[in-house]
Amino acid sequence: MFNIQHHSMTATTMRSSAFAVGAGATNNRKIRSYLNTLSTNNNIFYNNNKTRRSSSRRSKGDGRQTIAAKYSSGLQTLENCVDSGQFDRPMMEELFTIADEMAKVKPGSKDSLMLQGYLMSTLFYEASTRTRLSFESAMGRLGGGIVSTESAGEYSSAAKGETLEDTMRTVESYSDIVVLRHFQAGSAAKAAKVMRAPLINAGDGPGQHPTQALLDVYTIQKEIGRLDGFKIAFVGDLANGRTVRSLAMALTKFDDVEFFFVAPDVVKMKDDIKLFLDERGVKWTESTDLIATAKKVDVLYQTRIQKERFGDRLDDYEKAKGKYIVDQSVMDALSDTACVMHPLPRVDEIDPAVDGDKRSAYFRQAQNGLFVRMALLKVLLLK
Ligand code: CP
Repeated sequence: MFNIQHHSMTATTMRSSAFAVGAGATNNRKIRSYLNTLSTNNNIFYNNNKTRRSSSRRSKGDGRQTIAAKYSSGLQTLENCVDSGQFDRPMMEELFTIADEMAKVKPGSKDSLMLQGYLMSTLFYEASTRTRLSFESAMGRLGGGIVSTESAGEYSSAAKGETLEDTMRTVESYSDIVVLRHFQAGSAAKAAKVMRAPLINAGDGPGQHPTQALLDVYTIQKEIGRLDGFKIAFVGDLANGRTVRSLAMALTKFDDVEFFFVAPDVVKMKDDIKLFLDERGVKWTESTDLIATAKKVDVLYQTRIQKERFGDRLDDYEKAKGKYIVDQSVMDALSDTACVMHPLPRVDEIDPAVDGDKRSAYFRQAQNGLFVRMALLKVLLLK
């Protein structure tokens, strides 16, 4: 059991908070209102924090911030990364240009030292390979240092009952930027409200995973060469998948993107995202036929059925598991120019036999995460 924030609550109870996916109609209304707030009013992520942080931001005279950077988009005022709705199209485009530059940074070069003297804390209450290690690699490749606790629910003072807010206030005093993964949706926004240092949401339960969305959009651009006028199928656990929710929100910033949802009944896309798309005039279709859908799309975004989100509903997990698998028959249905993406980790939903297909982009996608995260660290730390 996790003893964070409301330590009288069980983890299962906390996961069914107001923002948890899978809540009833009332909660869907709350989620919808929450999503609209995030996408239309980013003040909680910009102005308030800017005021708080202006007193804590180190001056260039401290000898560390030797590379001043200016950005032409909203990146100039970006104070943290809590939700994919914070990023409009110009911000993503500028971030991706920086990511392209990051991919060229050579060890020992001047650019490889641009974050020298800065420290990043990583605090992960849920398991991670890609997100934690790519952030730590990103910071190291830019000359910065890392303070880290893995299994934070077990090894940080959360295990003694410390609230998330107190933990975050403490951790930010030891570092210049904090990367947080937590099991409760809405926790990153809660943390950002009490923090002065920039906060990066590395995934909050079934809520959001904004840096995954950014690297996913970057990967789509690299793989199919455009961000307007394409069709994407989201497959698998669409109810619990924070990567799908974050990416769907991010893709509404581009023109003429059409969505297809292919999911087992027990993990279908929730109404809040469908309403979000409807309100923005984005076309979406639900289908149960993966092969037929594969024939139509430019991007097939497969996801894992997330056993850890089912709690006691193991029957539902068994119903969902193994229903939609990307194998050679799906690859045969895809066009030659399509690509298969997956945020990873996978279990059995992509047959490893198709890994060698040039359209299988998931390991390139994981590497793109390094470059996008290097770009984001630069943007948040150097202004
Ligand atoms: N895609 C992703 O978030 O992977 P990890 O859980 O390994 O960080």
